[in-house]
Amino acid sequence: MILPGSHSQSLAARLAAATDHDLARVTYDQFPDGELCAALTEADADALAGTHAVVVASTLTSDAHLELLQLQDAAREAGAAEVTTVLPYMGYGRQDEAFTPGQPVSARAVAGAISAGTDRVLLVSPHEPDVADFFDVPCETVAAAPRLAEPLPDDLADPVFVAPDEGAIAIAERARDAYGAGTADYFEKERDYDTGDVEISPGNTDVAGRDVVLVDDIVATGSTMSEAIDALHDREVGRAFVVCVHPLLVGNARTKLERAGLAGIWGTDTVERDVSAVSVAPVLAEFV
Ligand code: R5P
Repeated sequence: MILPGSHSQSLAARLAAATDHDLARVTYDQFPDGELCAALTEADADALAGTHAVVVASTLTSDAHLELLQLQDAAREAGAAEVTTVLPYMGYGRQDEAFTPGQPVSARAVAGAISAGTDRVLLVSPHEPDVADFFDVPCETVAAAPRLAEPLPDDLADPVFVAPDEGAIAIAERARDAYGAGTADYFEKERDYDTGDVEISPGNTDVAGRDVVLVDDIVATGSTMSEAIDALHDREVGRAFVVCVHPLLVGNARTKLERAGLAGIWGTDTVERDVSAVSVAPVLAEFV
């Protein structure tokens, strides 16, 4: 049975359909003091006894983390024989080290808590693959990048798939391979961690007259991608598209991107937004 977290209800339904599992009718309640209670119905709890529970929950907020732990525990309480936890998007995954003395390794802290309630973890395209090592149970990473070519127009002109920094070049190459045409390259990126400002240098990437697909794992504030689009327009680029695995799109990210003049943006349903045109359910189904 698939147990959806509140931020992953569409993906959970698609995964249930793709794997022929039942979809639990989870309720998400809050007590007057603010404490949460994500719960199964009695009928679903009865049906879960002795079977496989699959909790699917992007931990986009601190409440979503708590909700995930509650769903794992509800599955155990119902007598599930096995619990698999799917993290379409792992919150705190980018805090994978103490960047200054005194900071926690938050990814390790949440991985430890999640491990206590599950037999295995499936993690979709983590920002740093090494975070998988923080879990105390087997953790497999599931690559979403090959699906990023799906929504792109068929008529891209001499496309170049560009990662905004070297760290994302593998995702750009996978998207290019899936599209079946074009080249892949990366820009140089500098971020000022005090102000959040981003500076992008396109280097020698040949973009004049070509359609560009900017590819990254995450679009959060949109600063990286809007700066990249600005840099492209300085070079007489054709159309500029953005694809990403996790379209967080926080704050005024959409406005920044629209003002920069993008031709289209798509992400996956690891984060459920209006741009989440690509589902990772088929790739997850192979692992569940
Ligand atoms: C960082 O290395 C990531 O790959 C993304 O580039 C980053 O998270 C994007 O953040 P933002 O949209 O806030 O610039």
